[in-house]
Amino acid sequence: MTETDFLPSDYINDVKEGSVSYKSPSNIALVKYWGKKENQLPQNPSISFTLDACATTTKVTFNKLEKLDENFSFDLWFEGKEKEDFKPKINTFLSRIEIYIPFLKSYHFKIETSNSFPHSSGIASSASGMSALALCFMDIEKQLNPEITADFFNKKASFLARLGSGSACRSIEGDLIQWGAHEQTEGSSDLFGIKYPYEVHENFKNFQDTILLVDKGQKQVSSTVGHNLMHNHPFAAERFNQAHTNLNKLKSVFKSGDLIEFIKIVESEALTLHAMMMTSMPYFILMKPNTLEIINKIWEFREKSNSHICFTLDAGANVHVLYSENEKAIVNQFIKDELVVFCENQQYICDQIGFGAKKL
Ligand code: DP6
Repeated sequence: MTETDFLPSDYINDVKEGSVSYKSPSNIALVKYWGKKENQLPQNPSISFTLDACATTTKVTFNKLEKLDENFSFDLWFEGKEKEDFKPKINTFLSRIEIYIPFLKSYHFKIETSNSFPHSSGIASSASGMSALALCFMDIEKQLNPEITADFFNKKASFLARLGSGSACRSIEGDLIQWGAHEQTEGSSDLFGIKYPYEVHENFKNFQDTILLVDKGQKQVSSTVGHNLMHNHPFAAERFNQAHTNLNKLKSVFKSGDLIEFIKIVESEALTLHAMMMTSMPYFILMKPNTLEIINKIWEFREKSNSHICFTLDAGANVHVLYSENEKAIVNQFIKDELVVFCENQQYICDQIGFGAKKL
C-alpha cells in the first residue's frame, strides 16, 4: 500500500453531530524505533508488546459548522480541565492528517482525554494518546462512509496515529505489533503497524510488564529531538541494520519459545537505544543511577534464581521488567523486596500484554 491508498473516496453520509470514545493502550518496544525520515517514516522496523493497563481514554464530540473554518476548531480537555498547552501538538497532528480525513475543518471538536497512569509518571502518553485520537477520527470517517472495512479501518487508524507519534501506530491492535518494512515479514510497512503474522510460542502469551518509576520528572531531551540526532550519527547505519537482524532472530525465538535468546535480544536493544543517545552529538544520558542499580539487581536475581526475568527501557529512566506469567509470584516478591527502593516514591505499575484499543 502507498500513502495515496489512505486518501478518502467521497463521503456518502452527512453527519451533523455526534460523539465517540476510545480507550487505547500504550506499548513497549522489544526492537526499538529510534531514528526517522520525513513524514514520520521509521529508519528501521520495530516490534512491540501492546500493553493493557496503561491507556488513554479519549472522547471526541463533534458539531458541524455553518461554513468551513480556516483553522481547526477544537477545545482540548485533559483530566477534566481545559488544557491550552496541549493544543499546539494536536494542531500539528491535525494539519498532518487533514489530507487523509478532509472533514476536519467542517466540524468543531471537543476532545476530552485522560490517562490511566499518573501524568507525571514519566511514562510516554503519546502512543496511547495519539492512537486514541486517531481511532476517534476514524470512527467519524466511518460514519461518513460506512463502506470502510474493519481491516482498512485499523490500517488507516494506525497510519493516522503514526503521523501523531511514530510508536502510536503500534497501539491500535495487540498483542504483538510490527511496524516498518522488513524483508522477512510479509505485509510489513513503514506506513502502519501490522499484527505479527507468524507463530508465537505459549511462553510469550500473557507476558508481564512491571514498570518501575525511577524518575517521574520531565525528560531533558524529548524523543523527537533524540530521533533527529540519528541523522549524521556515526553508528546509525550499523544500528538500523542491527534492528533488521534482531527482528530475524526474534522470528525464530517467537516460534521456539527460547527465552534465553529472547532476553539477549531485548536487553541488547534497550542498551543499544541508550548507547545511541550517549554517542549522539550533542550526547545525552536519560538513565539515572537507580536505572543501573535495578539492571544489576535483575542480572543478579536471574543468575541465582534461574528465572527468565529481563528488562527493557524506553526513552527515559524508568525500567520495564518483563517476565512470563508463570514467574509472576517469585518476580513480584523480588520486585517488592529489592527493586521498589529504587523507585521514586516507591511507585511502580503492574501491566501485561494487551489486545489493543476498544471502542467505549
Ligand atoms: C524509545 O514514538 O515517542 O520509545 O515519533 O517523535 O513521537 P515520535 O517518537 P516516539 O518514539 C518512541 C521511541 C522509543 C522506542 C519505541 O517505542 O520503539
